[in-house]
Amino acid sequence: MPVQRLVPGWRGPVPPGSTARPPGVADRLVPTREVYVSRLQAEHVYKVFGRRPEEAIPRLEGGADREELRADGTTAAVIDASFTVEPGQIFVVMGLSGSGKSTLLRMLNGLLAPTAGRVLFDGQDLTSLTPAELRAVRSRKISMVFQHFALFPHRSVLENAGYGLEVQGVPRPERDRRAAEALALAGLAGWEDSWPDELSGGMQQRVGLARALATDADLLLMDESFSALDPLIRRDMQDQLLQLQRTLKKTIVFITHDLNEAMRLGDRIAVMKDGRIVQLGTAEDILVTPATDYVASFTQDVDRSRVLTAGAIMADAAGSAPDEVLAAAPATVRADTPIVELFTPCSVSGAPVAVVDEDDALIGIVPRARLLAVLGEPMPPVEPSPPTGGTTDTGTTGSTATTTGDAVKAVAGRA
Ligand SMILES: Nc1ncnc2c1ncn2[C@@H]1O[C@H](COP(=O)(O)OP(=O)(O)OP(=O)(O)O)[C@@H](O)[C@H]1O
Ligand SMILES: [Mg+2]
Repeated sequence: MPVQRLVPGWRGPVPPGSTARPPGVADRLVPTREVYVSRLQAEHVYKVFGRRPEEAIPRLEGGADREELRADGTTAAVIDASFTVEPGQIFVVMGLSGSGKSTLLRMLNGLLAPTAGRVLFDGQDLTSLTPAELRAVRSRKISMVFQHFALFPHRSVLENAGYGLEVQGVPRPERDRRAAEALALAGLAGWEDSWPDELSGGMQQRVGLARALATDADLLLMDESFSALDPLIRRDMQDQLLQLQRTLKKTIVFITHDLNEAMRLGDRIAVMKDGRIVQLGTAEDILVTPATDYVASFTQDVDRSRVLTAGAIMADAAGSAPDEVLAAAPATVRADTPIVELFTPCSVSGAPVAVVDEDDALIGIVPRARLLAVLGEPMPPVEPSPPTGGTTDTGTTGSTATTTGDAVKAVAGRA
């Protein structure tokens, strides 16, 4: 798992090459010793709406579901959510309407207080901050991009993009400069002096993205940000986000009800149902070993050949002489190669494809039969996790998960 070193005078992770720090609450909340923190952590987070919400917690901990509580007039919007988002990761929360995604997101930026549990941002419990401290964290370190981004109709595109900076009190010249930079990053250079109604829906959404980027916030929270866009424009925005992410390396929580979008974007994906996270893992984890029938039902429409990689399906090459395997193989590929690229080699030779590491050493083989088998049905679902045990995390270590996610994104980029 990637770890970040905290330095005296600052409680957050240190980006490479960066020493300057924004002033604010952080300076007063500092641990003077070195500690290791993740960017964002949710620890057994619950949100219950209605009368006496706290009383619902023990029942939910005991395994009660949303329906049982509804009879009493309370809504369990989020039940026992636990996860970690490392700096630079895209963490996707996927689920149907009403599953609790937006409520979860509002707790991540402190707009809603959890009924139980904690949200830690750079190691700091958001619920322990005063309202003023929370506002400062929200305006400087967290940006939100919504589905229907509300632009101010009587302000230019540049002024709209600079709005977050205006709230922070950044003076006009610097604000305009940073807003223009952010617009360029979002692909809107040259549109600074236009008015919002001169832009298409997709371009307006880019202004929303630019506004979020302009503030230099470490954490981007995106709630169905691309869901209102036409499919082609939506795909374009996904590409843009992935491209930006390669250089900016923000920490992003992205909400969607679309599994294909989740798999294109997410290093890790949490699937929610009726308030609970029913699976937490990489795109491949979810595709290959869906935790429940519910998760499996989402995976039906996903193009498995573009998500699964050679490394995920390869068999052990032990017992064969590496030189012979490599000589006979119709192709030699890296572990992150999408299996869609293995079909042509497998069609011309009965010998397995060889999978090698960075040093070209053999690490596995993909026989033709294996390739065809994985394109069929997902493996049988495992038993659902017990209600109090939290989430089925089918992911492995943070670093492995990220590698897999990168592979998936590389695939998606070419798709
Ligand atoms: N302020 C509130 N008061 C009462 N119930 C609420 C409140 N906010 C959300 N809920 C309920 O909590 C549940 C989860 O809602 P939430 O908006 O988080 O779902 P969602 O997954 O974001 O759905 P969508 O995909 O439609 O945006 C729903 O049953 C909703 O009715
Ligand atoms: Mg929502």
